[in-house]
Amino acid sequence: MWTYHNPVAVHAGPDSLRQLPALLHGRSCVLVTFAEAHELGLVERVRALLGDALHGVISDVAPNPDVQWLAPLYDRLHREHADADCLVALGGGSAIDTAKALLCATPSGRFDELLAALEQGLPLPAGRHKALIAVPTTAGTGSEVTPWATIWDQAGGRKHSLHQPWTWPEAAIIDAELMQSLPAGVTLASGLDALSHALEAIWNVHRNPVSTALAVAAARRTIDTLPRLLRDLSSLPLRAGMAQAALLAGLAFSNTKTALAHSLSYDMTLHHGLVHGIACSFSLPQVMELALGQDAATDAALLSIFDADQPGQAVHRLREFLHALGVATDPAHYGVGPEAWRAMLHSALQGPRGRNFIGQAALA
Ligand SMILES: [Fe+2]
Repeated sequence: MWTYHNPVAVHAGPDSLRQLPALLHGRSCVLVTFAEAHELGLVERVRALLGDALHGVISDVAPNPDVQWLAPLYDRLHREHADADCLVALGGGSAIDTAKALLCATPSGRFDELLAALEQGLPLPAGRHKALIAVPTTAGTGSEVTPWATIWDQAGGRKHSLHQPWTWPEAAIIDAELMQSLPAGVTLASGLDALSHALEAIWNVHRNPVSTALAVAAARRTIDTLPRLLRDLSSLPLRAGMAQAALLAGLAFSNTKTALAHSLSYDMTLHHGLVHGIACSFSLPQVMELALGQDAATDAALLSIFDADQPGQAVHRLREFLHALGVATDPAHYGVGPEAWRAMLHSALQGPRGRNFIGQAALA
């Protein structure tokens, strides 16, 4: 028996940003976005679309939402815009994840309360949470169709996973035109994040036939589209193709969560400074090698992505795909020697995401 569930209303296609006023249904909102959104004219576009419904703009979101800067942001939002009904998150995974933290209500209106509950694993306080409309400007995060947010505590050397029934976005707008000015580095990293979400949904103990079908389609499309997009960054059809691949991957892992490659990635980001998309993808060939042979249907799904007859061929093609994009797959390239890598692998298998990996029981 299995269930597939995703409550996010997806609105996609050319100029779909125009759907924003209708999706607010007369409610007020605050825009949560990244600093460059001003220069790119995105804040003005949203302002022109929403008029008086837009009560405020928070544009100091930085990569990897960290408790240190989230706390003053949260306190300011809940002091100045307590009555705003919605947050519109416009940006990559960091903007959307930030909005998921900001939308949670606490009785005091202070972030400390939210953080204490996260740190102690206690239920988050009930209250009047704000609704979320997510508008991704990168193709990769999938955060627009999942309820999860990663909240970092760099100073404490750890991260928290935020996941509540109210952190699902109400709606997602997928407008590839918003992604057209993304530089090559971010295009590559976010595209590989999407590939990682797809593969991690397949070698996952929570997989189901729908998540696997979505993931296979997402991975095939990423492998076909991403290299071509990197050679032609201004192509709108290729941007739209990659946006769709990332969306399918997001819909797949929204029901499975991620697995071993993401579990490994958190240390690589915290201690080796790797951006998320590279941190969660450079190990994919090795993780796939560990996944193959655990389950016949999973093997078939993985082989079909790479048009491979043999497991070794699929692993080889994945490794070659990454190398052709300039991504090294040897941990030593990132400063992690063989012994340290073995220890990282061992500890990653014990983490919550590692336990989602289908080979976990055999390897841990
Ligand atoms: Fe990811």
